[in-house]
Amino acid sequence: MNPLEEPNRSNRNIDPCVVVIFGATGDLTGRKLSPALYNLGKEGMLPANFAAIGFARREKTHEQFRQEIKEDVNAFSRTKPIDETFWKTFQEKLFYHQSEFDNDEGYKKLDAFLKELDSRLATRGNRVFYLSVQPKYFPIIIQKLKQNGLLYDHKETNHWSRVIIEKPFGRDASSAEALQKEIALYLDESQTYRIDHYLGKETVQNILVFRFANSIFESLWNYKHIDHVQITVAEDIGIGTRGHFFEEEGLLRDIVQNHMMQLLSLMAMEPPVSLSASAIRDEKVKVLQSIRPFTLSDFEQGVIRGQYGTGFINGKEVLSYRQEKDVSPHSKIETYVAMRLFIDNWRWAGVPFYLRGGKRLPKRGTEIAIFFKDAPGVLFQQGNQKNDPNVLAIRIQPDEGISLKINCKVPGPSSPIQPVKMDFRYGSYFGKSPPEAYERLIWDCIQGDSTLFARADEVEQSWKIFTPLLQFWENSTPQNFPNYKAGSWGPIEADAMMESDHRSWRML
Ligand code: BG6
Repeated sequence: MNPLEEPNRSNRNIDPCVVVIFGATGDLTGRKLSPALYNLGKEGMLPANFAAIGFARREKTHEQFRQEIKEDVNAFSRTKPIDETFWKTFQEKLFYHQSEFDNDEGYKKLDAFLKELDSRLATRGNRVFYLSVQPKYFPIIIQKLKQNGLLYDHKETNHWSRVIIEKPFGRDASSAEALQKEIALYLDESQTYRIDHYLGKETVQNILVFRFANSIFESLWNYKHIDHVQITVAEDIGIGTRGHFFEEEGLLRDIVQNHMMQLLSLMAMEPPVSLSASAIRDEKVKVLQSIRPFTLSDFEQGVIRGQYGTGFINGKEVLSYRQEKDVSPHSKIETYVAMRLFIDNWRWAGVPFYLRGGKRLPKRGTEIAIFFKDAPGVLFQQGNQKNDPNVLAIRIQPDEGISLKINCKVPGPSSPIQPVKMDFRYGSYFGKSPPEAYERLIWDCIQGDSTLFARADEVEQSWKIFTPLLQFWENSTPQNFPNYKAGSWGPIEADAMMESDHRSWRML
């Protein structure tokens, strides 16, 4: 029996389709996409009439491909161990197609194979093409798909084809614009799904629910009550085997321009007029448009870049960035960024947003922390000693949850005041950890919902903010790299920036 056809499934109304993954032998497919498809299938979220094809340049049989996917699922799935009964029938829906990315013949054969699957599995001509390849291949794959009849004009057919494009979408404002122009020759915006996997995280989606389904926070969510906001994306991992990639990208392109800007815009946006993809994305773009452009003095004082040296992570000695595989011993690529931003609109006038992200920091932790203004110090202030500010922390990962720090009277006659935390934890409240971001995003694309994908103008606007900074960095060599120890919280200049603003980074 087809396990995707069991009666209690939630996939009844999902269109049948085939997902074709370009770059099917790559790292992302192994670690994220294969486990995501497996878990979607297992939880009844894939259409009953479904197939997935891996498209890559290496020769291999369907059987070898299935075996590799099974190993990846075993290693990386959030649910373990693999369900052998489910796997047995699910694997029959997985196929492999060998071709170069620029070979017309390969696309013609793919088209023929897809049509064969349509008649065998009733997948009805619906396609998701997932481009999990190096960015230089995005345009050629999209062009070849179009020229070989694999991308349809939605208005003319009753089946659909959609393309998921992995990040990075461009390297700066002009390359992102050029890439967009090129792909727009073949692909309509409604078919284009630019992935930023942060948007697929449950806790990131919950930012909107938290803000707009609760009345008590919205009235405080502005410059009158908020002193400043800190957004942190800390990772304890280094760059692993991704030396080539990271030497090209650096942390600003890898994390700040996309993931952190998504967090910032969801945190700061105005309420959308509806929950439609365009209404939400319109409001996010407005936030990006309101970010104050950097000036020369910001480059020197309001933005800190860092690179890790040797150090210890979890008690184990680790290499410096410049000693990592495929990294130049003189590399000036940043593995840490901290900055101060302002959003020049009515709601946020004068409120600093401090962003910091880095590799090889002491622990993994992503959060948005909202620091409220101090209470007037007339009643409970003890001499010059101020009470702690109220802090609302939205923990994106790990230990997903939301906490609110409030001041409280310690029991007893002497009445000292102590900050305490009200804490909500997803894991303990809902009894399970949230699904992986990629599961949600693949599912949304199959459903034709682009809300959690980045629109072209969002991506371009975000690049516009950072392009002058990237150019400034390109033309100036940091003399002090490496400037933080692996296992520390980053360069001392980042602390100094906060001190000069009479603030400090929150301890994670
Ligand atoms: C990716 C970056 O987009 O996000 C990686 O390329 C980074 O460098 C990763 O490690 C972080 O994702 P997550 O989901 O683990 O926070």
